Amino acid sequence: MQVDEQTETPQEGLPRAQRSLVLVGLMGAGKSTVGRRLSSALRLPFHDADQEIEVAAGCSISDFFEQYGEKAFRDGERKVIARLLKGPRHVLATGGGAFMDPATRALIKCEGLSIWLRADIGLLMERVVKRPTRPLLKNDDPRATMERLMAERYPIYAEADLTVDSNGGPHETIVQQILQELAKLGVKGAA
Ligand code: S3P
Repeated sequence: MQVDEQTETPQEGLPRAQRSLVLVGLMGAGKSTVGRRLSSALRLPFHDADQEIEVAAGCSISDFFEQYGEKAFRDGERKVIARLLKGPRHVLATGGGAFMDPATRALIKCEGLSIWLRADIGLLMERVVKRPTRPLLKNDDPRATMERLMAERYPIYAEADLTVDSNGGPHETIVQQILQELAKLGVKGAA
């Protein structure tokens, strides 16, 4: 395990409207693309947790899973997200499993404003087949895996502060929807 960072203990965070915006949801929901666009709209920096993990670990997520296993990946993911959320306000795209980790979820609830990009199975599968690198889907029946993950994860993702449907329309439309919801919460620059 080569990710060596401090995990922050969750504490009372900033008012929600001033926090970092954290995108959660399944693989293929569009967290990175929407997150990047949302960050430009709000003039905030953007971070992608998966990319940061790859930099910290010095290898791809796929290789990391193969070499060290999922538990080590979750430990690294937790540390990287804690480090990012401790930094200046930004938009953060998390990997699909991050919000499922109880400590990461508690931290996001304390330090972030979470946005679940909800998508149906058809859209998720259409997107993930285009990038067949995701370790959890490298098996004989990725669709069945995705359905299982939906059943396990959607009740937890539903704990996010906001839920926005990602229905396969233009990403810009989703960004606008998010901005409208953020404006209602008093987030500056969202109106
Ligand atoms: C995972 C999702 C991936 C990546 C890893 C595990 C998951 O990120 O973090 O492969 O558990 O759902 P994306 O959601 O960005 O594909």
